[in-house]
Amino acid sequence: MSFKLCIIVNRCTLKPNLYLSVLVLVCVLVATSSYAQNLDVAKKCEISKHDDNNLTLNCSRRNFYSIPQWPLEISQVTKDGHMLITFFNNSITKVTELPATPGGRIAISFKHNRITDIVMDAFQNLERLVYLDLSKNKISGDVLRTEIFRGSYNFNKYNNIALETLNLGHNEIHSLDRYLFQYTPNLTRLYLNNNPIELLDHVTVLAISSATNLEVLDLSHTDIDNIPLVAFKGLKHLQQIDLSGNKFTTVPETLSLVGSSLKFLSFNNNPIVELNDDSFIGLTNLIELEVAENDYLDEVKRSTFSPLKNLRVLHLCHNRNLRYISHNAFKGLKDKWTLKEVYLDDNDLSEISPDLMPWTKLDTLGMTGNNWLCNCDLADIVTLQGAGEKFKTGESPYCAAPLKLSGEYITNITLSFCPTFDKTFSSKRKFSITNLKPKQVLWSIFGVAIVACIGMAIGWLVKSVKNIYKKNRNQPVPYINLNSNSFA
Ligand SMILES: *[C@@H]1O[C@H](CO)[C@@H](O)[C@H](O)[C@H]1NC(C)=O
Ligand SMILES: *[C@@H]1O[C@H](CO)[C@@H](O)[C@H](O)[C@H]1NC(C)=O
Ligand SMILES: *[C@@H]1O[C@H](CO)[C@@H](O)[C@H](O)[C@H]1NC(C)=O
Ligand SMILES: *[C@@H]1O[C@H](CO)[C@@H](O)[C@H](O)[C@H]1NC(C)=O
Ligand SMILES: *[C@@H]1O[C@H](CO)[C@@H](O)[C@H](O)[C@H]1NC(C)=O
Repeated sequence: MSFKLCIIVNRCTLKPNLYLSVLVLVCVLVATSSYAQNLDVAKKCEISKHDDNNLTLNCSRRNFYSIPQWPLEISQVTKDGHMLITFFNNSITKVTELPATPGGRIAISFKHNRITDIVMDAFQNLERLVYLDLSKNKISGDVLRTEIFRGSYNFNKYNNIALETLNLGHNEIHSLDRYLFQYTPNLTRLYLNNNPIELLDHVTVLAISSATNLEVLDLSHTDIDNIPLVAFKGLKHLQQIDLSGNKFTTVPETLSLVGSSLKFLSFNNNPIVELNDDSFIGLTNLIELEVAENDYLDEVKRSTFSPLKNLRVLHLCHNRNLRYISHNAFKGLKDKWTLKEVYLDDNDLSEISPDLMPWTKLDTLGMTGNNWLCNCDLADIVTLQGAGEKFKTGESPYCAAPLKLSGEYITNITLSFCPTFDKTFSSKRKFSITNLKPKQVLWSIFGVAIVACIGMAIGWLVKSVKNIYKKNRNQPVPYINLNSNSFA
């Protein structure tokens, strides 16, 4: 009875007319505290309907201290409809059991609240919950028990929930329950960034490796310096991982276990000092690599990028102490070149080898913010090999040295004294047959002359040797005498 009344109240707020207004009064008169809360939501939260199957309940910035009942308008959403409910930036401290919510894909955000507790089975009425944002709260690992992310209980077991994206970033998590993801088989994106994990302990590793459908894993800013080998075992779909802002001194070896699926790796802001042929071993399917803001990185050694046979985008930038990139850093990749974008901006580079990479095959190149020494090598890269055409507009790097070129755009320098700038040299590179024909003749004549000279030289040599031999023959050969003496 009272339930029915409440439905009418909510319809009232939608389509007020005289008849229904009377009912509102009645309803308010008999309102219990839960009705009041309900009305409160209807008043406070904003409902926007994009179409019948797509509804947003915006409860952002409305000073909620607890989770209210949903307004009944949302019941219009059908079984396959989409529903977004956001409580962004309120003061909620506890996630209580959420009311049943219609829709086939439900997304809920509690980002930026003060959550310290989540009750058992908080999400059991939302088996179609696909997206849950709990970031920027005060949740500790102890709060995240197995009993939280699971569906309702029937036929002696718990149902799964549809959860695909779980954001736990910016909380107070040290460790995860090993069975935390037991009822979330579709979990594909897990954000654990900005938590004080420090050490991926045994149970946390078991929890992560149990999420076998993970595609995206964010472990940035978690103070870790190591990933145990078993952590990624079984994560056959892992495509993207962020390890930035941690304490790694080498790129963790564990990554090679997911080398066949991994496509994006962010490894910024770690205390590595060098990259070498071990760094990216096994990452054959990586498409995009970010190695930036590593303040201690000073050298990229030979064959560093050789395992990355499918790389398209490389961000090797903002490493303010990076002085040296081996000319063999891409060894073995030049024949099947896949890189399209290379960003070398804001390092401490002054020189770079012209044969580092086939510059002409790039679409975009970034070189700003370094200490370029504008010498013939650089002129070769920028002018002869056309790297100068790959800079984004307004992002032309300039020379730091020599003094007379300092401040000059490197695309502007024409170093006439460089041998590589000689016209004949460049036409020889392009191998034009018509240009070479007279030269070939010249070469042939020269060749014949050389052969003749060598022949004459040999003749003269043979003649002199013969003369010496003859001279020697006229005298007794000392060793023969010695021999005959010893046999006597
Ligand atoms: C909801 O509708 C809006 C407007 O038509 C659209 O931009 C948005 O992508 C839709 N959201 C979902 C989840 O379908
Ligand atoms: C929700 O409401 C707040 C406050 O009125 C507003 O700033 C915000 O843009 C809204 N968000 C969405 C997703 O509609
Ligand atoms: C949250 O809201 C408070 C006050 O309503 C405001 O001062 C603060 O900047 C907001 N935070 C964010 C991240 O929007
Ligand atoms: C997981 O995803 C599959 C494929 O989209 C779907 O059939 C299944 O119902 C989902 N599982 C849950 C628990 O929602
Ligand atoms: C580069 O050359 C262009 C024209 O060739 C000139 O307008 C421009 O000022 C030069 N820039 C620098 C920084 O020398």
